[in-house]
Amino acid sequence: MSSGAIDDLGFESRTFPPSTEFVATTHVADDSLYREGTANPDAYWERHARELVTWSTPWHTVCEWNLPFAKWFVGGELNVSFNCLDRHVLAGRGDRVAFYWEGEPGDTRTVTYKELLDETQKFANALLSLGVQKGDRVNIYLPMIPEAAVAMLACTRIGAAHSVVFGGFSAQALADRINDATAKVLITADGGWRRGEVFPLKPQADVALQDTPSIEHVVVVKRGGNDVAMQSGRDHWYHDLIAAANPMCPAEPMDAEQLLFLLYTSGTTGKPKGIMHTTGGYLTHVATTFKYVFDHQPDRDIFWCTADVGWVTGHSYIVYGPLANGATQVMYEGVPNFPANDRVWSLIEKYKVTIFYTAPTAIRTYMKWGTQEPQKHDLSSLRLLGSVGEPINPEAWMWYHEHIGHERCPIVDTWWQTETGGMMISPLPGATVTKPGSATRPLPGIGAEVVDESGTAITRGGGYLTLTHPWPGMLRGIWGDPKRYQETYWSRFPGRYFAGDGAKLDEDGYLWLLGRVDDVMNVSGHRISTTEVESALVSHPSVAEAAVVGANDATTGQAIIAYVTLRGGLTVDEHVLREHVAKEIGAIAKPKTVYFTPDLPKTRSGKIMRRLLRDVAEGRNLGDTTTLADASVVTELQRRASEHPAED
Ligand code: WT7
Repeated sequence: MSSGAIDDLGFESRTFPPSTEFVATTHVADDSLYREGTANPDAYWERHARELVTWSTPWHTVCEWNLPFAKWFVGGELNVSFNCLDRHVLAGRGDRVAFYWEGEPGDTRTVTYKELLDETQKFANALLSLGVQKGDRVNIYLPMIPEAAVAMLACTRIGAAHSVVFGGFSAQALADRINDATAKVLITADGGWRRGEVFPLKPQADVALQDTPSIEHVVVVKRGGNDVAMQSGRDHWYHDLIAAANPMCPAEPMDAEQLLFLLYTSGTTGKPKGIMHTTGGYLTHVATTFKYVFDHQPDRDIFWCTADVGWVTGHSYIVYGPLANGATQVMYEGVPNFPANDRVWSLIEKYKVTIFYTAPTAIRTYMKWGTQEPQKHDLSSLRLLGSVGEPINPEAWMWYHEHIGHERCPIVDTWWQTETGGMMISPLPGATVTKPGSATRPLPGIGAEVVDESGTAITRGGGYLTLTHPWPGMLRGIWGDPKRYQETYWSRFPGRYFAGDGAKLDEDGYLWLLGRVDDVMNVSGHRISTTEVESALVSHPSVAEAAVVGANDATTGQAIIAYVTLRGGLTVDEHVLREHVAKEIGAIAKPKTVYFTPDLPKTRSGKIMRRLLRDVAEGRNLGDTTTLADASVVTELQRRASEHPAED
């Protein structure tokens, strides 16, 4: 079906209601929350702000909306670290474990809420002693260690905004972000563990620091044990600061609209954007969605989100959402295949993880490694699975459902963005019948519509995903560039937020994300989403992962070029895959060429770099495209990708 925007070629019809066993203990088993959220979104969010967040001063206005600028809980005051730490300790839950942390080499730490609060207070005092004041920006460049959460929480305690830069980013990317934010302090580590080796962070930071005049002090956590240079007067060991710090640092009430953090995202073009998130609305959004989407109950659940704190997923669903809910989590430092391909499953078994949240790219990688890996472990503690970051292909969803969830665990496919702060479209696991590959419906209190080229809402078929009214976790702007904020998100469809994703609506009103509209291919006038062709390819039993791009073609405008990774040990002919796509979604979507490759080029956060593949397919830079099936070319592509980390 066509709306003129993006064709609807879908083919998935399986449905999965929540089991009676799951429904028996769920927070939400019916449509009451949906009804409440639809009837009055502001009242819905206000109720949750009251129930899930502790305020020192109440707000006078729930939402002030001067398109495109929103303020939430206006006049209210609260402290985020108080909400994540103190109130749990004050309620007698200080001994509850906040993090079961495991380093890649296998070393472990258990951090309780009381310990996390003590350390956060000390580090907040250390930051104050280095001259950090309310409103300042602090950069964080750390591995996945508990100190990352401490550093973020310490900033919130004193009203400094953090800007976390993923530890895999280059010195140049770090310097750009520090300079854009004019950060005063950088918090880093000597190094961290990855793939059995220490990767250096401080040495990278030193390169960045040659060109970051705003930085006055650098704090270095000892983790990797690698040699680092310390510049006297500027650089300080974290453990020395903690040892010297006053243990008490009262949480200072902050205005609900105080800047909480900046997080840089590049989107498709131009210099990275410092996405601004503020305090009261953001915390309300992530606390509420964490509780309901993960059906979280603190006395029962062990939550593990595999994201890095350098991404928004780590901010919202490792640090703020879970800690506001008093959750117990697993935090893991390293890669999923060290020392072997079953590390993730061994951690789930060891810590009895009940809720597991990961990305489709990871799931497809586990598919590639084979079912024997999860089969080595007892995964019976799991009760709920989540997915985020990309559309999840129906076959990856089914694999997750069968081989990880053992057909017992609901899957929540959560659509959101750095800009939205928290989840926007997702099942409520006890109330929503799921379909493999669909993020289902907007969450309660969220308004989403699919529109056609002219901005008119459609009820069926493919188009552009827009958000229709403000939500508490929404970005408040782009740091230093209000005009770009308006142009990027609020101009294409007047009165609506548009951040670049295609989506389609099926006959039940379910939403299916179709990927970035920049990736949509135009074949003989048909607008075809990469997601649908990739999902058709992945539905072939031999295929683990696929990326398709539209390359210029003299006859059809664009032709579909597919790059395919096979499941461990399997083979298949190119023409079989082409026919398979034709059968699943139609001859128009048949790839012209299929290349087999052991790996696909991905961004540091795991998204397939289709733009790069398009360059390859169209012969730009890399010359002869037929050589791409050669792994060394892919390695080359990946090297280039890692040199352009802005493409997250
Ligand atoms: C983009 C945002 C959300 C945190 C991690 C990524 C894609 C995200 C889904 C999903 C289909 C998804 C979208 C979105 N995306 N989740 N469940 N289904 N697509 O944050 O780096 O800001 O990326 O990721 O294209 O716009 P991000």
